[in-house]
Amino acid sequence: MNYLVVLGTVRKGRYSKAVADFIVKTAKKNYPKEHFELLDIKDLNLSLNQEGSKLTDTSLIEKLKSTHGFIFVFPEYNHSFPASLKLFIDLWDKDRLYLHKTCACVGVSSGRYGGTRAIESFINVARALGMFVTYRDANITKVQEEFKNSVPENPKKWENLVTPMLEELVKVTNLLIK
Ligand SMILES: Cc1cc2nc3c(=O)[nH]c(=O)nc-3n(C[C@H](O)[C@H](O)[C@H](O)COP(=O)(O)O)c2cc1C
Repeated sequence: MNYLVVLGTVRKGRYSKAVADFIVKTAKKNYPKEHFELLDIKDLNLSLNQEGSKLTDTSLIEKLKSTHGFIFVFPEYNHSFPASLKLFIDLWDKDRLYLHKTCACVGVSSGRYGGTRAIESFINVARALGMFVTYRDANITKVQEEFKNSVPENPKKWENLVTPMLEELVKVTNLLIK
């Protein structure tokens, strides 16, 4: 199966990049036969007026089409997920590129809740796209301390935390896509 790990913030100095890299690394280690790849929405250089625009990057369209399951990694900004992630999502709604695919969420914050409220907001959007959201998430708390050098200070702790989310995503994706 093909999994896309979408990094859902373009903020300068974002810590979520280190988290997304760690998720890809852990997923590849846990599931060497599956394919995991990072999609950094910053690389798409989106403009604010692109909501509803058709995607013209054919290689990206093909990548999204061939994806069976998504992992969205995003921080919490004002109790929700970043506007840049919403902009990315709103680009391709008409093409139904997410329909009947799986979605797992990784929330990131500098505080104790690990993006819980951002995930709760994102779940509604995922449903609008027709995705199946896993019942397990991963919450990365105190990211500025825990990932201060772009890698986790305590990798084992975070591997243990993300493993149930990955297990659930792979299980549900296999159930859904025969
Ligand atoms: C605009 C903005 C709003 C924020 N709002 C919240 C919030 O509602 N809850 C929270 O726990 N942290 C909040 N934070 C702190 C972030 O969790 C922290 O900056 C974290 O590093 C964000 O991830 P990032 O570095 O990938 O951007 C906010 C940060 C920014 C920049």
